[in-house]
Amino acid sequence: MQVLRVTGGARLVGEVPVVGAKNSTLKLMSAALLAEGATHIDNLPAIADVAIMRQLLERLGCGVVETRSPDGTEGVTITVPQTPESAAPYELVRQIRASICVLGPLLTRTGHARVAMPGGDNIGSRKLDMHIEGLQRMGAAIEIEHGFIVARAQQLRGASIWLDFPSVGATENLVTAAVLAQGTTVIDNAAREPEIVDLLDMLVAMGAQIGGIGTSTLEIQGVDALSPVHHVAVADRIVAGTWAFAAAMTQGDVRVRGAMAAHLSIALEKLTSAGAAVQELPDGFRVTMTDRPKAFDVVTLPYPGFPTDLQPQAIALLSIAEGDAMITENLFDARFQFCDELARMGAQVRTDGHHALVRGRHVLSGAPVQATDIRAGVGLVLAGLVAEGVTEVGQIHHIDRGYVRLEEQMRALGATIERVESSTFG
Ligand code: EPU
Repeated sequence: MQVLRVTGGARLVGEVPVVGAKNSTLKLMSAALLAEGATHIDNLPAIADVAIMRQLLERLGCGVVETRSPDGTEGVTITVPQTPESAAPYELVRQIRASICVLGPLLTRTGHARVAMPGGDNIGSRKLDMHIEGLQRMGAAIEIEHGFIVARAQQLRGASIWLDFPSVGATENLVTAAVLAQGTTVIDNAAREPEIVDLLDMLVAMGAQIGGIGTSTLEIQGVDALSPVHHVAVADRIVAGTWAFAAAMTQGDVRVRGAMAAHLSIALEKLTSAGAAVQELPDGFRVTMTDRPKAFDVVTLPYPGFPTDLQPQAIALLSIAEGDAMITENLFDARFQFCDELARMGAQVRTDGHHALVRGRHVLSGAPVQATDIRAGVGLVLAGLVAEGVTEVGQIHHIDRGYVRLEEQMRALGATIERVESSTFG
């Protein structure tokens, strides 16, 4: 089994580039299904999830060709047939929950979609009731048959939809269904993450009529057809934020190039309160830290709140901070699983329901630990950077789902980290 072996103690110093967001790219690729012809998406991350989405689109009858622009960034051209296939198989859907995002585009384009239920997840229960109820309000007939969501609608109709919670995935599915529906759809309490804005911008470029972009009320006027476009994915704010926490934890000095500080306002504010200097630059931001970080509290919330996808990285930092911190996780009920692994490194974290109390320690000690999901995995790597001795992080396929060659990028900043066959895990 391969692991990331980290030897703690190095300061991270230098510059690191950030490319397009995983959670944008996968949805942009799904949205290509809405228009017959060749849609081109640039600034893609070379991660495992993108490769799986490519396979899924191929199974749906699309031609998918990888491209590389002169500046070295990866792209993809997706050629969509007049009528795509409408069945998304379990063996692909189970690998990435984001495949549920083909449901809206397939249903509205073909009148029929058969998408495997994605199943459970290591970060907690992830229901789909808002996706299903919203589509039903638009006139879809939906059944769960043998592990598949089977949706049918000759022609979806505009509807008024109020989401109980600003779900990222439900907002995306409902908007991508509504753009080709008959009439006007209003989605209230919609999610407004930068990745959603990115998707909506691409849909507008394709010819969709969408009002309220960036707000929690979206008004979508259905049109007859959309056209393929060329789109550049928004930078990955979670990867950028991960570098910001890594810089602060290691008392380093890192320029994060290609990132948007505005998409990370609260997270960067927290690092400032911990004692870091955060400087916005024309092409990104820089985080510098000279002391042990001071503790701060965190409450995860939908955007623009503190992102749940930076919660493990924050706990890793707080485990070596000066003082106590209270973390409240409001999105995913099992995300604190990661604290049990961090405890193996000596972190003092007590959890109770959706709260965690972190008692900062001067030092952690390197240990064999296991990644349970993408962000937990990277949180453990960050802890390894500041721990005494060697940390081996196992189950790194999780990390590869969201981070492009993490160890190479960290080494370029001065970390001692390598991908090796484990000597600890069997
Ligand atoms: N929810 C429901 N019913 C629904 C949909 C969601 O109860 O119909 C609940 C979920 O159970 C969860 C909360 O609403 O408790 C938020 O879920 P949301 O739908 O917003 O999340 P998602 O679309 O499943 C995306 C990202 C996650 C990220 C969350 C929150 C993708 C592929 N995934 O998930 O990213 O944490 O939004 O920002 O876009 C990651 O990248 O590591 C990751 C987990």
